[in-house]
Amino acid sequence: MAAITSIKLNTGRSIPAIGLGAAASEFTPEGLADTERWFLSAIKAGYRHFDTAYVYKTEGYLGAAIRASGVPREEFFVTTKLPWFHSQDVARSFDDSLRNLGLDYVDLYLIHTPQIGEYAGGYDGPTSLAEMFGELKILETPTFNDTWAELERIHESGRARAIGVSNFSFKTLEQLSTTAKIVPAVNQVELHPYLAQTDLLEYCRKKGIVVAAYTPSGRDKVRSDPTLVALGAKYNVTSTQISLAWHVARGVVPLPSSTKEERQKQNITLPTLSPEDVESVTALDRYERIFSKIGPDGKLFGWTAEQLGW
Ligand SMILES: NC(=O)c1ccc[n+]([C@@H]2O[C@H](COP(=O)([O-])OP(=O)(O)OC[C@H]3O[C@@H](n4cnc5c(N)ncnc54)[C@H](OP(=O)(O)O)[C@@H]3O)[C@@H](O)[C@H]2O)c1
Repeated sequence: MAAITSIKLNTGRSIPAIGLGAAASEFTPEGLADTERWFLSAIKAGYRHFDTAYVYKTEGYLGAAIRASGVPREEFFVTTKLPWFHSQDVARSFDDSLRNLGLDYVDLYLIHTPQIGEYAGGYDGPTSLAEMFGELKILETPTFNDTWAELERIHESGRARAIGVSNFSFKTLEQLSTTAKIVPAVNQVELHPYLAQTDLLEYCRKKGIVVAAYTPSGRDKVRSDPTLVALGAKYNVTSTQISLAWHVARGVVPLPSSTKEERQKQNITLPTLSPEDVESVTALDRYERIFSKIGPDGKLFGWTAEQLGW
């Protein structure tokens, strides 16, 4: 089993090569409160990289787990994200995220999605997942180029050690580059064996952007793939560990989430795949999205696949 290393960002700082996804599957008060338990078990298992977001409502529990762990702040790499309905209030939203976390800086601050809009609830936004995926009024201004300029100012202040984007495509990254002074350090996208994103990966590599993978296991659908199960038997690990090892072999930073200590440990104890086995996992690609699906109205958060550049 290979040790978990880190990857150099274009800022010169490093990002741990695997992070714990810090979104709760249950948005209930009980589900959210339980996150502190599994964040703490992840810290005990050796995780130092955590991926949260303002909309996950877990920033406060992550900050509490970090403090309770007794591990010094500077050993952690904490990512959070600006919601797509806070683009008119970027400075306020960032301050709120820091306050929720109880930190005076984050290691990485991302624009959560290229879409920009507002909900009936205004700044406080949706109160449930159903509302979040429901009616979003798309705004023409500010654009994500404007939002990026605000993130650049936050970066200059030193309170976000690196800045980046999430759910950006070749098309939206090119659009961003027309005004950006800083190249994003990271682009976090859905990526797993059924959505290998090889072209986007190549583009980001050329631009010096590290790609992080969300839904990196592909959940149960990909986990049960016969090729991955067979490779698991070959390396004496689970099919999830094969997918995660494949990310690491491709220089992608996977962000697996698990509420269970045993799985958290498995997910950072990965084999080194042979180049042929990396290829056979890449060959499973079928351009299939599991999380970021276009809805029945042909849109995801108000944008079509064409607008998203998918
Ligand atoms: N930027 C974005 O727009 C965006 C969107 C979605 C997600 N994300 C980020 O990505 C993270 C992960 O995404 P995700 O939860 O969709 O995908 P995931 O980590 O691939 O899947 C999580 C699911 O897999 C199970 N699991 C984890 N490890 C396992 C193992 N070794 N064996 C069997 N089952 C295992 C977990 O169950 P148990 O908890 O029961 O172990 C959970 O049901 C999120 O927490 C979030 O940080 C970002």
